[in-house]
Amino acid sequence: MQKIRIRAAQAADRADVAAICDGVYGDGSDYIPKLWNDWLSDPGGELIVAEIEGHVVGVAKRTHLADDESWLEGLRVNPTHQGQGIASRLQAHLIDAFRRMGGGALRFATHSQNRPVHHLAARDGFRHVATYRLYEAEPARGKVAIPLRPLTNDDLDQAWELMQGSPRCSAANSLYETFWSWETLTREKLGAHLVRGSGWGIDKNDGLVAMALLCDTDKEDALDVSYVDGPGEALEVVLVGLRELAARRGCEKVRFRAVEEPELMDAVERAGYWESWDRKLRVYETVATPRLRESGAGPQPYAV
Ligand SMILES: CC(C)(COP(=O)(O)OP(=O)(O)OC[C@H]1O[C@@H](n2cnc3c(N)ncnc32)[C@H](O)[C@@H]1OP(=O)(O)O)[C@@H](O)C(=O)NCCC(=O)NCCS
Repeated sequence: MQKIRIRAAQAADRADVAAICDGVYGDGSDYIPKLWNDWLSDPGGELIVAEIEGHVVGVAKRTHLADDESWLEGLRVNPTHQGQGIASRLQAHLIDAFRRMGGGALRFATHSQNRPVHHLAARDGFRHVATYRLYEAEPARGKVAIPLRPLTNDDLDQAWELMQGSPRCSAANSLYETFWSWETLTREKLGAHLVRGSGWGIDKNDGLVAMALLCDTDKEDALDVSYVDGPGEALEVVLVGLRELAARRGCEKVRFRAVEEPELMDAVERAGYWESWDRKLRVYETVATPRLRESGAGPQPYAV
């Protein structure tokens, strides 16, 4: 058995990692080469590679999202070296380092057919906590009909209230998307979105009845929706409103990774969105709390 060495990634690994990504996806579509420099210089994150006999054969990244919350991404192993325990070693290294840093919630997403990753997740104590479907919609051009308005910090109480106990929030395990990563939507983060102007809503009888958050991204081709909530028909209305907003902003489409929740699925389809991928996205989570685990007190990591 060849010796696998895990080490911090270096700038010089870029070409090897790009070759791995090409080997895995074969069409140059992988986002890792584009993000390589950002990932290397990410101060709160950890970018690692696996080496066998001096050759880089795998890569993985942990990204710091918030206090006690990190995101795993970019796990890739050269197809010629798969099935030799390399991803297992990369993942174990990142989990261990996260625990040593104080732990918290560690999450990642993968698609519904990625069986090796489901297996690795279960083996390392991750729990499947939410499922998302990928939707897209055309911008709704013409006369603006939906009175969608930007939310401000004055709307925080009502927006927060909308989420409390809602089936969407439960199905999402209180997570929301921050552009291809998911983290806990706290009242503080919701407030920050409203201050940044990325919250939108509709009113009924002078009260907020539905709200939407947009992902903070520099992508201009589409409006990327992060979270939508509100009761029944109001969901459909706000989703149509987002299509109108996309038209006003000159976007080509709306993209919404919607948590799998029956009322939301109905609303999304009634609002003219269609499913753009035949797979679903699963978000996995483990909670690592080393000090409490050692003493046997407090929350335990999920059972496998
Ligand atoms: C997923 C990936 C990283 C795994 O890398 P790897 O080095 O081959 O993984 P390992 O050898 O450490 O472990 C794979 C595990 O999955 C298991 N496995 C493989 N195929 C499986 C399947 N079809 N169903 C269930 N388990 C499977 C293996 O038995 C092994 O488990 P074990 O160690 O308990 O026997 C690699 O296949 C890859 O790069 N895939 C493409 C990119 C990707 O999907 N990345 C993950 C994004 S979330």
